[in-house]
Amino acid sequence: MSLQHQDHASTTDTSRRTDGIDPFFVFDYVPLDGPDDRPPDPGDEPDQSSGQRMTTYWDVEKGCRGPDPRPDWVVTDAGAVDTELGVLKTGKEADVFLLERAAPDGTASVYAAKRYRSPEHRTFHRSAAYTTGRRVKRSRDTRALERKSAHGRAIAAGQWAMAEWDALCRYWTVGLPVPYPVQVDGSEILMELIAYDGQAAPRLSQVRPDTDLLAEYFHQIRTVISVMAAEGWAHGDLSAYNILAAGDRLVVIDLPQVVDLVSNPEGADFLMRDCRNVCSWFQARGLDVDSQELFAEVTPT
Ligand SMILES: Nc1ncnc2c1ncn2[C@@H]1O[C@H](COP(=O)(O)OP(=O)(O)OP(=O)(O)O)[C@@H](O)[C@H]1O
Ligand SMILES: [Mg+2]
Repeated sequence: MSLQHQDHASTTDTSRRTDGIDPFFVFDYVPLDGPDDRPPDPGDEPDQSSGQRMTTYWDVEKGCRGPDPRPDWVVTDAGAVDTELGVLKTGKEADVFLLERAAPDGTASVYAAKRYRSPEHRTFHRSAAYTTGRRVKRSRDTRALERKSAHGRAIAAGQWAMAEWDALCRYWTVGLPVPYPVQVDGSEILMELIAYDGQAAPRLSQVRPDTDLLAEYFHQIRTVISVMAAEGWAHGDLSAYNILAAGDRLVVIDLPQVVDLVSNPEGADFLMRDCRNVCSWFQARGLDVDSQELFAEVTPT
């Protein structure tokens, strides 16, 4: 199985190519019998204990499937089977898994499945400053959140997923380099797996670009911050840890805390912090950049 659907991914077999790759990004898995030769039927449901399920693509509401134009690698077959291939990374708020969706006709894609934990399973809690200016749509949900009931906890995980989903859809639609959002289902987002050379792409913090690529990377991220700000948003947690380096292309991830620069009174502070975090990484690698200058340049007038 290779991670072939991304245009920037090679066709290298991921289970074999480990030379020169950070072991963090090497994952082992045993391919399970796919549906290719065994089309599912009502009496032949996937074995959930082996990490399989039927596709959930058509179970979610319309707005919970990704925006158009839908990339052709998105598997929409109602008979597709999802197979979990392993954990990509466990984070403070969510775990990211590799998930293969395979149709009976043999077409398949591997996605990143980000699953938010309910609040009691998190190791990190964001300050309320992020959500200032946001509202919970249904009052029944507001009450459940306040009571911290089981329903309330599920809503809290779902809310972060939904916030990230909305941001991914908006960013992708205006052409910003974010993973294509495939679907959101409760606290799980399926999105494009950002891959390079047959592997999940490393974080910017893990790569050591040469001088030219460093300048090119900075140019790309400056454009991202600037376009976001012009649209009225700040990432809110932008750093070399939330940027993936797919060869010469940077992709921004981890967007649940997107800050509305207009309605959030601390919006400018978040934008400044994003500029500072990004600039300090580039400065440490020898690029002559200045966070105040970047902030002034990207701040909408
Ligand atoms: N679409 C993707 N393609 C490839 N890798 C991804 C993708 N999304 C997430 N990852 C990997 O999973 C890690 C965690 O994702 P993310 O930052 O969104 O979650 P998080 O819970 O905030 O994690 P952390 O606490 O590490 O910041 C990323 O650093 C990256 O290595
Ligand atoms: Mg992160």
